[in-house]
Amino acid sequence: MKAIEIRNKYLKFFENHGHKVIPSAPVIPENDPSVLFTTAGMQPLVPYLLGEKHPSGTRLTDYQKCVRTNDIDEVGDNRHLTYFEMLGNWSLGDYFKDESIAMSYEFLTKELGIPNEKLSVTCFAGDEDCTRDTVAFEAWKRAGIPEERIYFFGKDDNWWIAGEEGPCGPDTEMFYDTGKEKCSPECNPSCGCGKYVEIWNNVFMEFYKDKNGYSKLKQQNVDTGLGLERMVMLLQGKETPFEIELFAPVMEKLVDLQKEDLIQSRRIVAEHLRSSMMIINDGGRPSNVDRGYILRRLLRRMTRHLNKLGIDLTVLPEIIDTSIDALKELYPELDNNREEIKAVIIAEKDKFIKTLQNGEREFEKVANRTKNAGNKVIDTNAVFNLYETYGFPPEMTEELAKEQGLQVDMSDYQKLFAEHQEKSRMGSDQKFKGGLASTGEMETKYHTATHLLNAALKVVLGEHVHQKGSNITAERMRFDFSHGAKMTDEEKQKTEDLVNEYISKNIPVERMEMKKEEALALGAEAMFLDKYGDIVTVYKIGDFSIELCGGPHVGSTGELGHFKIKKEEASSAGVRRIKAILD
Ligand code: SER
Repeated sequence: MKAIEIRNKYLKFFENHGHKVIPSAPVIPENDPSVLFTTAGMQPLVPYLLGEKHPSGTRLTDYQKCVRTNDIDEVGDNRHLTYFEMLGNWSLGDYFKDESIAMSYEFLTKELGIPNEKLSVTCFAGDEDCTRDTVAFEAWKRAGIPEERIYFFGKDDNWWIAGEEGPCGPDTEMFYDTGKEKCSPECNPSCGCGKYVEIWNNVFMEFYKDKNGYSKLKQQNVDTGLGLERMVMLLQGKETPFEIELFAPVMEKLVDLQKEDLIQSRRIVAEHLRSSMMIINDGGRPSNVDRGYILRRLLRRMTRHLNKLGIDLTVLPEIIDTSIDALKELYPELDNNREEIKAVIIAEKDKFIKTLQNGEREFEKVANRTKNAGNKVIDTNAVFNLYETYGFPPEMTEELAKEQGLQVDMSDYQKLFAEHQEKSRMGSDQKFKGGLASTGEMETKYHTATHLLNAALKVVLGEHVHQKGSNITAERMRFDFSHGAKMTDEEKQKTEDLVNEYISKNIPVERMEMKKEEALALGAEAMFLDKYGDIVTVYKIGDFSIELCGGPHVGSTGELGHFKIKKEEASSAGVRRIKAILD
């Protein structure tokens, strides 16, 4: 079965079971500066898992384009990918464990034709936070999985959360038995030997975790994720994802073009090219910060490995074409944006090769100097110089160093880099927008509203109030602030009235630049003081509010409409959260 068939079968199957098919969100998350890329299907759905109503109902299914970059350096082995597609289905307070497991079993065995004997499953063993998942266990038995192939594990294996805080819960995972020998008598699905391959994860999301521990969500959700490439690989009986139709044509093309036969380099080129194209297609561009930096690293690493293969870089457009042709059935948007994608990649490659040769020569000198001095670790200043002058990402220097038995002290590098950044960041604080990534008209209004709310809370509750966080969408704002007690109805009303009073006064929102000390002397609020350079941008609303902030904001407060507090609740110890809207 090809990837496109598996994806279509999946969406159709869940549609037939009452789910609405929703589109994939971009790999670059909208309105969420806290993460670099979309890493799971649940990520764009977090507000709905927490209880907001989704316009498409309580049963959803989609394919989600995902980028996970923590393992970039592992790419080149036989399994790691930085981009992958996740098929998922969700219950937003609708069905729970029984129905979820029954559907998964039916899909795997009937739709994909996987024999029962090939399947093993794992369930949560239970601990002080959550009981043993006997419900999932019984559901698997009813579906037809014999007890000896149902395993129980603790939080390390059978608990899912994205990061440190958020919706979470016990999960049940499905494994495909490749038929390889057990590596030991104890070999089981949690063992990494490769006999068992995880194919699907159903998370029973009924908890929320924050600094204070676990609490119950309003509703019991199901969040599932099935990695498409891995499933295609298993069903096609292939050993690695690089042999399936999404990669094979590029891999073959590289074999045709190469002068050196290096399988790892071929995989790195094919994989990084695909990831880069998906990121570029969703609006990413190479740069020296955040997402742009990851993209730059991907493209530069790809270029370096093309060099290692001895491939003439003028044929890069052909390689890109081959890759897009292999992917266009799944992602017609790549085909539509072909020329633009090519232009971005080639421009970055050109920029890079100009400096690459000089840089490699410089690296050789540095490496020799290190060895001659009898050292193993390359001087951090030299690593920094390679980045500054020759455009070598430190990770690349580290990779080159490894090839020669040398090392880079990355944490030392980070320190040096941070010092340098602080110096060079004068006036360039637009990166820290306080919870605001994309800035449509409504988001901009909500952004200004957070400043008014912050100021109003200081008047009503006291000067101890400071912003602890904020999150804005086009539909609402969320504002976390320091305060020890639940707000009374009277306090809420006063705050709301005060914000509306300043809206009706239609006060201009002034943008100013000044020295950080000056701003602080004026009493400006600053949430992330350390992150700002010496020159800061300050937004001032009459004599009511003054904050260090990257903007953007509305021209004057009259544009905001009417402000309304919808909810006031605890967020964590000593921190309260207000949800509010403008209507
Ligand atoms: N969130 C879970 C995962 O990423 C299931 O979708 O595996």
